[in-house]
Amino acid sequence: MEICRTSVELAARKSLRVDKPLVLVPTMGALHEGHLSLVRLGRRLGPVVVSIFVNPTQFGEGEDFDAYPRDLDADLSMLESLGVEAVFAPGMSEMYGDDGEVTVLPGRRAMGLCGGDRPGHFTGVLTVVAKLIGAVRPDVAVFGRKDAQQCLVIAQMVEDLKMGVRLIDGPTIREPDGLALSSRNRYLDTGQRDQALCLFRSLTAGRQLLAAGERGRDAVAATMLRELKAADEVEYAEVRRVPGLENEKRVTGRIVLAVAAKVGPARLIDNFALEVTDHGVIDGFLLGDPTGI
Ligand code: PAF
Repeated sequence: MEICRTSVELAARKSLRVDKPLVLVPTMGALHEGHLSLVRLGRRLGPVVVSIFVNPTQFGEGEDFDAYPRDLDADLSMLESLGVEAVFAPGMSEMYGDDGEVTVLPGRRAMGLCGGDRPGHFTGVLTVVAKLIGAVRPDVAVFGRKDAQQCLVIAQMVEDLKMGVRLIDGPTIREPDGLALSSRNRYLDTGQRDQALCLFRSLTAGRQLLAAGERGRDAVAATMLRELKAADEVEYAEVRRVPGLENEKRVTGRIVLAVAAKVGPARLIDNFALEVTDHGVIDGFLLGDPTGI
């Protein structure tokens, strides 16, 4: 496995330029089984470059940039065991340099949800993802579905800026009791971990109501909110359309149930991507159906 610190080093790696799509899996490190599942998905298509960079511009004032877990050695050994072709682990100056003045502003999809509670967050995400795509020049990029709004905001950038990268969202990986894997779960003690299950319960309650025939957004959101109250601080419980994230009164077609809440020191998010029809509710996806890969 090659470890590259600069885009020039990456470009020199001929092993990445084979007759198969080059796949980028962008991460901020602190890897867990969720990230590894994205890598496995990518490896079915072609050589994989995993980027590891804790991006300061997507963290707001008072957020956990300094505390964010960093363990490059552990990350590298996990990736090595999966047979990843290369890791792109740039430093700050490679990514932002002295002249890092250009940013990418998101469109309407960044309004509300995490965009409402974290001003500037998606500008930071889009700017760094654009730089990573520019550095790696992948054919395909794989993102975790757990960050639903992030997936859809990035998809809009890739489409509007004609970046020519195919995007895939890998399914959320969960503990047996439903807790979505997240690097921030490391912040939770045992009691807080139990408390954090309210996010999964909230989404499950929303889905059950839809499965029972309810199609009113407000009724579904109110049910989700009730379950989420077990968190220390509720940020949102919402039902949005996919892919545009419109907030419509009647719930139908491709949608996402999305929640965010603080539990102890951790800000946690989770979602269910669903397809709601007249006959019922089935699992959905955000960017492109990964089952066909
Ligand atoms: O999802 C993440 O880990 C980050 O937001 C990303 C996409 C790597 C950009 O820093």
